[in-house]
Amino acid sequence: MSENILRLESGFELNYENMFGADRLQRRDITSRSAKLKKAHKAIEEMRATGIIRGHLSKDGEPEKVLFSQLPYVAEGNLNSPVVIEKLKNFGEGLRFNVDTVVSFGIGGSYLGNKVLFDVQCGEFWNVKSQEWRNGYPKLYFHGQNMDPRRTTDLVERLFVEAEEKIASGEKFSLCLVVISKSGATLDTMSNFMIIYDIFKSRPELCDLTVVAVTDPRTDSGETLLHKLAVEEGWETFAVPDGVGGRFSVFSEVGLITAACIGFDIDAFLAGALAMDQACQTEDVWQNPAMLNAIMKYVAGEKYGRDIEVFMPYADYLKSVSEWYIQLLAESLGKRLDRSGNEVYYGRTPIVAVGTTDMHAQTQQHQDGKRDKIVQFLRVANWSYDPVVPDCFPNVPKLHEIAGKTLSHALDAALMANAQALSGDNRMNAEFVLPAMNAFHLGELLYMLALSVAYEGEFADVDAFDQPGVEAYKRILGPLMNK
Ligand code: PA5
Repeated sequence: MSENILRLESGFELNYENMFGADRLQRRDITSRSAKLKKAHKAIEEMRATGIIRGHLSKDGEPEKVLFSQLPYVAEGNLNSPVVIEKLKNFGEGLRFNVDTVVSFGIGGSYLGNKVLFDVQCGEFWNVKSQEWRNGYPKLYFHGQNMDPRRTTDLVERLFVEAEEKIASGEKFSLCLVVISKSGATLDTMSNFMIIYDIFKSRPELCDLTVVAVTDPRTDSGETLLHKLAVEEGWETFAVPDGVGGRFSVFSEVGLITAACIGFDIDAFLAGALAMDQACQTEDVWQNPAMLNAIMKYVAGEKYGRDIEVFMPYADYLKSVSEWYIQLLAESLGKRLDRSGNEVYYGRTPIVAVGTTDMHAQTQQHQDGKRDKIVQFLRVANWSYDPVVPDCFPNVPKLHEIAGKTLSHALDAALMANAQALSGDNRMNAEFVLPAMNAFHLGELLYMLALSVAYEGEFADVDAFDQPGVEAYKRILGPLMNK
């Protein structure tokens, strides 16, 4: 067995064997950077203790704390206090057998993490299963992550069908709109919300409508629009805490509201994040998954020109982790300037892929294209359900051969083959292993990735917590919308 595996007590693994070798990383690439590692580790320790990250300013140019690393710690006075967690759980409990359908509006950091929790807990067919099967929890649709007229129309149509079915059974349809927006005024979110709200608000005979707002109560420029509206309309509110950017907010009320709506285990999720935070407190890079992941990817880019990262879970319901990671990586590390104002054009372009699906598509490019990529695999070690391929056609040798094998065996073999083929051509790849697809290990994984970009920001000396690049189009979009 390879020694190049960092394995935590929980069973979570980072297998980095294939990052090293000819035309790949050398051990001394890491060991020779001990001063850099030490400095970055100190900076992360300071962030943990005080929220201070050197050079980080808010959108308005004011010094701003970075507090996501506090979120796993549920305690009085913390962002996630026992009262906050209790309120979320009560909210979720109140939906059970009372609310038929939730529509969650949000985009970017107000959607991507929520989708991950939904996929892991609910899978693809949640909304077509019975209420009993869902343990009383409502159906849940995400919306507002685009401004697509067709999908909005389809959703309205779908909600009408659900309402009519409910009325036909002699009951009233109960619809809850959860609007998530840190800034409280995002065009994509609010335009879609207003369309659905307007339609169902004006039909009280058809449905009982409730609205819940998740937003920053105040920003530097005053009360957010969504918060003001919520107070005026009497909607229940949850907070996007100060110091937690959208892409780090899955551990806050932003992500946890979705958890509450579907019965996802909030305690286990935060416990996983906490266990990972503790595992990442060691200064020994070979024992600290976030720091090791960050330094390997940093050196791979800076020294070996690997500035694309293909994030490839071998699991359909983890594809959304890859989509969440796109925002985390791109917004955190894709930076024109370093913290001294020098042009550095730092970052890695993230790519979404899923195994085995993309082995029949993207893998050609990964295997034979430019040597500018790292393929980051994500594997689930143990599946709760694992169908065995039956021997339906014993007289067909090719089909008889695969009979008796579990699907996970085939999936793992495919991943192993992909990794070996890449390594055989000196192409960098690594593997994260989740012992199981559950709330605890998901908490570990997402937290490790969030902390990893914080480390990499330190290595590259860029502010991993701002996103000035997305303001450029926003300055153009506003006037264009008003034309
Ligand atoms: O990271 C970011 O800041 C963005 O991607 C936001 O998450 C996204 O624009 C949604 O913003 P808001 O939550 O303010 O509606």
